[in-house]
Amino acid sequence: MIRLMNASDAADAAEIESLVQSHPWTKKQFEESAAAHQSTVIELQGKVAGFCILQPVLDEANLLLMAVHPSQQGKGLGYQLLEQSIAMLKNNPVQIFLEVRESNKPAIQLYEKSGFHQIDLRKNYYPKADGTREHAIIMVKACSDDFSKLFR
Ligand SMILES: CC(C)(COP(=O)(O)OP(=O)(O)OC[C@H]1O[C@@H](n2cnc3c(N)ncnc32)[C@H](O)[C@@H]1OP(=O)(O)O)[C@@H](O)C(=O)NCCC(=O)NCCS
Repeated sequence: MIRLMNASDAADAAEIESLVQSHPWTKKQFEESAAAHQSTVIELQGKVAGFCILQPVLDEANLLLMAVHPSQQGKGLGYQLLEQSIAMLKNNPVQIFLEVRESNKPAIQLYEKSGFHQIDLRKNYYPKADGTREHAIIMVKACSDDFSKLFR
């Protein structure tokens, strides 16, 4: 089941985040994000197995963060969560942007499967655990088939 995130899901989301990120968001950041953005979770047997945080901005949106619990990856949950979360956006965005670490091949392939493509490279953007930095790939997905909207 995919549903909106509540403040009470913040601990579960932070736990998943701490298992997959070298610089994880805190529980407090998830609480704030549940209120400020369109934050969703995917549940398996009543347990939060992943989350997706989308920030609608005017007629666009930014994908800020998503993750699936390591024990549940590779089963199609991430794709399902991303597609449904995008469909739940109330602002009907023309396009959605995201930034991803160049080394994060699973995420890049998920985003490509969902229709995102690279539009830019931000050099030395992300800090790495070893003190060096790595590039960010900027991706976009065009959502609207109403082309007149794109040229407003
Ligand atoms: C990226 C992530 C959310 C994908 O979630 P998932 O549930 O494992 O993904 P799915 O099983 O739905 O796979 C969907 C697609 O993603 C890609 N993918 C997923 N895992 C992959 C892997 N290990 N290697 C290559 N591609 C992969 C594939 O294109 C896959 O489609 P396919 O099965 O038809 O080949 C998950 O790996 C994760 O939480 N990673 C750590 C956090 C992270 O990097 N978040 C994104 C940056 S904020």
